[in-house]
Amino acid sequence: MIITIDGPAAAGKGTLAGKLAEKYKLAYFDTGMVYRAVGLEMVLDNKNINDESLAEEYASKLTFPKMMKLSKNPDFRSNVGGQAASVVSAHPKVRATLLKMQQDFAKNPVFADGNSARGAIYDGRDTGTVVCPNADIKFFITASPEVRAMRRFREFEAKGMQTTFEAVLEDMRIRDERDSKRATAPMKPADDAIIFDTSDLNIDEVFQKACKIIDSK
Ligand code: DC
Repeated sequence: MIITIDGPAAAGKGTLAGKLAEKYKLAYFDTGMVYRAVGLEMVLDNKNINDESLAEEYASKLTFPKMMKLSKNPDFRSNVGGQAASVVSAHPKVRATLLKMQQDFAKNPVFADGNSARGAIYDGRDTGTVVCPNADIKFFITASPEVRAMRRFREFEAKGMQTTFEAVLEDMRIRDERDSKRATAPMKPADDAIIFDTSDLNIDEVFQKACKIIDSK
């Protein structure tokens, strides 16, 4: 079984994906990591993330072990990593290069310990539209920019990262704009996606709604 969960930053995709993966014993692929890894590696190497050919070169050399290593860097999840990911993910050549790596995971899904799984949960912006167009169930999770910025701000605060709500909200607006206006695979729900607005729902309510749909399938 393949389930995709798409939507904007901090809508609750990752939390929902993690809970569903645990309940249904499915492998989990956070596809934003491939773009964060490419973007951050370029930033660390002092390279121009707007250079599409160079970014394509970095993308072509990305492997799972390299991505996991980069994910340990504190900037992987910070605004620095998020903005870099958003910029490199707007390059069509980068998306094309990273598509196979993402699609291959569905053919042989594995848990973090390397054991095979009977299916996978994908989270991202285009997993239901481009990466896994034949997924069994597609969710699109969204919430207002203010609600999402507050959730992300609290996460940063909990990690002791120095920022303000206004800065996080501005960052969110810039990324939403870039992710939804890019020419290749813009962020939008698949025609057959089930849409949840989580602005007024807590994670348990979203989880219960998703479980009902999965169980009915
Ligand atoms: O989900 P995230 O915040 O880790 O994603 C980081 C960036 O990567 C986001 O701004 C857009 C991009 N992304 C994408 O274009 N397609 C995906 N499937 C996942 C992420």
